[in-house]
Amino acid sequence: MIVYFSGTGNTRYAAKALGIMLNDDVMDIKELIKQGARVKFYSDKPYVICAPIYAWRFPPLVESFIENSDFWGSNKMYFVATCESQTGDAARHLKKCCKDKGLDFCGFAGVPMPENYIVMYKVPSEKEQDRIFGRANAQLARIAGVIDNYGQLTDELDMKLLKPFTALVNPWFFGAFVSSDKFRATNKCTGCGKCTKVCPYESIRLKDGKPVWGPKCTHCMACISSCPTQAIEYGRRTVGKERYLCKREPNIKIK
Ligand SMILES: Cc1cc2nc3c(=O)[nH]c(=O)nc-3n(C[C@H](O)[C@H](O)[C@H](O)COP(=O)(O)O)c2cc1C
Ligand code: SF4
Ligand code: SF4
Repeated sequence: MIVYFSGTGNTRYAAKALGIMLNDDVMDIKELIKQGARVKFYSDKPYVICAPIYAWRFPPLVESFIENSDFWGSNKMYFVATCESQTGDAARHLKKCCKDKGLDFCGFAGVPMPENYIVMYKVPSEKEQDRIFGRANAQLARIAGVIDNYGQLTDELDMKLLKPFTALVNPWFFGAFVSSDKFRATNKCTGCGKCTKVCPYESIRLKDGKPVWGPKCTHCMACISSCPTQAIEYGRRTVGKERYLCKREPNIKIK
């Protein structure tokens, strides 16, 4: 069973591609969280948990989802991260989580995909995105091959020497930088409500036809990138920047 979280669509793409290649079910963590109850999974096939990398780890929301869910049937756990280029120390935390839950950690792999963090960076050009997806498709096929044979996944993006810095970078990033305070809707807002539906924390509500952000936020970029009129800005950091939303669907033919 493939279980994924995605803010702007890259990981949804990766999860769906793996679902096709492994002929397995694909489930969206965002939808499961919204149901509120503790999730009890059952699968005879290995579990493949897919998420983006945020500051060199899986998002806190995903780590706590795994901690608070039950995985029955197979106890084999694979982890696939999409990222811009660096997976940091994500694997170590997931390995520990598996150990604590009595699950069999079968490896972790990072797949580079287009950058979505427009608060800090720019989105790559369409041409560059095509190149990145070409490489990602090849990597996803390699990953599916390993999982299909119950092999051990390895991370080709392993940072080795930089890994220990995750212990500093990740808490600093989430403590000092990740906040909803700077989100605002400009007068381009039509009050369509789309931003309220895509937030994994259901943190956004409409007040007098305009979005208002609650305190819970993981900077997934879903709200700002999904707005059909590009009415959302994050302070001045996103003004004039292209938004990133992956609308591609995997085009995989099974022989
Ligand atoms: C808050 C945040 C932090 C990020 N941190 C990293 C990082 O540490 N390393 C990296 O390579 N990419 C990082 N990225 C880029 C994303 O991991 C990458 O674009 C990912 O594929 C987005 O997946 P999604 O479209 O499924 O949300 C970050 C993105 C966001 C939004
Ligand atoms: S998605 Fe954009 S246009 Fe729609 S309510 Fe939100 S900010 Fe306004
Ligand atoms: S407020 Fe926006 S960026 Fe923050 S978690 Fe919700 S959708 Fe993601």
